[in-house]
Amino acid sequence: MAFEKNQFDDIIEEFTVNGDTLHEIAADFRYDLRKGLQNPDESSLRMLKSYVGLPTGRETGEYLALDFGGTNLRVLRIQLKGEGKFEILKKVAKPLKVEGVYDFIGPDSTAEQMFDFIAELVDEAIDGDHTKKYLLGHTFSFPSEQSDLYNAKLIIWTKEFATPGVEGKVVNDLLKEALHRQGIDNVEPTAVINDTVAVLLAAAYKQPDVYIGSIYATGHNTCYLEPYADSADEPMILNLESGGFMKLVPNRFDEAFDQASEKPGEQRLEKMVSGRYMGELFGMALAELLGESGKSYGFTSIDMSNIIVDDSGNRQQVQQIVSGRTGRTLDLADCQQVQKLASTLVIRSARLVTASYVGIIWQLNGTDKALKQHIAIDGSVYEKMPLAKENIMQALSELLGEDSAVVDTVLENGGSGLGAAIAAAMSQR
Ligand code: GLC
Repeated sequence: MAFEKNQFDDIIEEFTVNGDTLHEIAADFRYDLRKGLQNPDESSLRMLKSYVGLPTGRETGEYLALDFGGTNLRVLRIQLKGEGKFEILKKVAKPLKVEGVYDFIGPDSTAEQMFDFIAELVDEAIDGDHTKKYLLGHTFSFPSEQSDLYNAKLIIWTKEFATPGVEGKVVNDLLKEALHRQGIDNVEPTAVINDTVAVLLAAAYKQPDVYIGSIYATGHNTCYLEPYADSADEPMILNLESGGFMKLVPNRFDEAFDQASEKPGEQRLEKMVSGRYMGELFGMALAELLGESGKSYGFTSIDMSNIIVDDSGNRQQVQQIVSGRTGRTLDLADCQQVQKLASTLVIRSARLVTASYVGIIWQLNGTDKALKQHIAIDGSVYEKMPLAKENIMQALSELLGEDSAVVDTVLENGGSGLGAAIAAAMSQR
C-alpha cells in the first residue's frame, strides 16, 4: 500500500514548528517566566523555590542520595571530594513496578507501601548498618511546594504516577516514617530537590558558567538560577515545572492524547516533547495513515529511535518494528515515510524544548548580550535520540543568532544522584 500523499503531508505539517512559531513560543515562555516571578498564579509556570543556590565545588563528605523520579528507583552512597570530584561507593536500584509482580505507582498501592519499599532500598545501600550516621539528599522529581530545603510537599503527581496518599504530603516525612518503621534511625533526610535542580547542582559542582539545568527524558522540565538582581534576595534555583507550560500550538493529536491521559489539561509541553509520550503520539498519527484512527499500538520513543536510525537499503528494521506493533507490512516507500514522521516528531520536540531554554536565556540577559554558558541536560532523549542534539543547536542558532556562539549544551549524566549528595552537603551550611 502507499500512504495517501495529502494526508501524509498534512500530518507532517501539523507536527512542524516553523521559525515564526518558534520565536513566539520562546517569547511567550519568557513572558510567563516574568509573570511567574511577580505572581505565579498568572503564569503557566509553577516557578517553585528550591531554597538552594549553586555549590562552591568544595563540598566534601560521604552522603546518601535517593533518586526517586521515574519507574527506576536508585540509592547511592557518594563520597564528595571537592574540586568537582566525587566517587560512587555503592549503588542499588530497583523498579517501582514490575508488570504482573508488584506496582507501587498505580492507584491500588498506598503511600506506606511505596515508602517502605524505598526504605528497604536505602537499607541495602547502607548494607544494613544501623549505626553510622548519614545525611540523605533526596531527588524527588515531581512538582513540590517547598518552604525550606527539607520541607517539600508534593503538589500533584505527573508522569502518570497515581499512588494515593502522597499528594499534599511532605515527602521527606513519609520517608522518615518509613525509615523509622524499619529501624533505620541513623539516616537523616535533610534535603529534597527536583531532578532538574540536581542536574544543575551536579554540573555547577564540576564547572563554571552553568545556570540552567534540564531533564529531557521520560519527563521534561527545566530549572535555572534566578539572580534576583533587583532585590536583596540571594540567588536561588527555581524549578519552573516547564512541562506544564501551556502557550503552545497543540494539534489534534496532542489534544486527543491529552484528553485520554491520567491528568487532562496538565503538563501540556511535556506531553508534546518527552520520551514518555512521543511514541504514543507517533502511534496515533500512524494509525490515521493506516486507516485505523484511534488505535493505540504501544509505540515507545525507543521504537522511534530505532526507526530513525535504520539506513539499510530495504528498511528492514522499520518494517519489523511497525509490523510488530501494528500487524501491518509496509513497502519501502511507506517505511521511509514512517521514518519521516518519527523524525518530524523528534525535531518538533527538540525545537519546543529549545524555545523554553531561550525564554530563560533572554530573561537572564535582559537587554544585554547572552551570558556565556553551558545548559546542563540529563536524560535519554537528549543523550540517545537521533536528531535531538543537532536540532537543539539549530534552534538555538535560529533564536539567538550570533549570541548562540557563547551558548552550548552539556550532558550531565547521572546528575540526579550526584546532585542529591551535593544538596545534602549544602544542607549543612
Ligand atoms: C515531570 C515532573 C518534574 C520533573 C520532570 C523530569 O515533569 O513534574 O518535576 O522534573 O518530570 O523528571
